[in-house]
Amino acid sequence: MNTDNIDPKPVRASQTTITELMIPSYANFGGKIHGGTLLSLMDKVAYACASRHAGAYCVTVSVDGVDFLQPVDVGDLVSLKASVNYVGRTSLVVGIQVTAENVQRAFVKHTNTSYFTMVARDRDGKPVIVPPLILETDDDIRRFVTASERRKLRSRVRKRMEAYREEFRFDERTEGLLDGERCVVATGAVSG
Ligand SMILES: CC(C)(COP(=O)(O)OP(=O)(O)OC[C@H]1O[C@@H](n2cnc3c(N)ncnc32)[C@H](O)[C@@H]1OP(=O)(O)O)[C@@H](O)C(=O)NCCC(=O)NCCS
Repeated sequence: MNTDNIDPKPVRASQTTITELMIPSYANFGGKIHGGTLLSLMDKVAYACASRHAGAYCVTVSVDGVDFLQPVDVGDLVSLKASVNYVGRTSLVVGIQVTAENVQRAFVKHTNTSYFTMVARDRDGKPVIVPPLILETDDDIRRFVTASERRKLRSRVRKRMEAYREEFRFDERTEGLLDGERCVVATGAVSG
């Protein structure tokens, strides 16, 4: 384990919860809460949690796993629980669990769990090293290992997609990739 001579901090030291009432101006035309409103709240809590751990300004670099599983209603109390799942050298992964509570019906639903990768930066905008993480519980260990695996998978997928983007040509070899898809290649769409 590499700790770079910086004092490690426990996960619990930076755990952060934000609770916000969903007011009518947050709603879309269908009367449900905008996904963008929830994303903005998630970004806020991710920042609070990451900067508490890092002791530095942090920026959002990427977001994984934003699937809105259930709609959120006006009047719901939305709680966002954030906790540092993983630290690299200058980056941190903050796991955020979002729940929506209907107070009158005493009913709480889980709307999503997402993972924000944040990078700590100094005043000049350069990435700075973050404290290592002290894992005190089974959950802390599971989340750290899972985030580490997700990071490796992401890196593999990113490299593969970059190569794909650079090399892709639509020809007899690749046209089969559209088999079963709901699209039609228009005449003249294929150049050269
Ligand atoms: C984040 C940022 C500082 C990284 O700069 P960089 O020159 O790529 O720095 P590095 O290559 O040293 O990467 C720094 C860390 O970010 C991580 N990182 C960079 N790109 C990443 C990506 N797409 N996904 C996940 N992590 C990423 C690296 O793995 C590294 O982590 P580590 O130190 O824990 O190993 C830079 O991309 C940036 O400023 N982005 C804009 C962020 C911003 O403004 N967000 C607000 C929303 S608009």
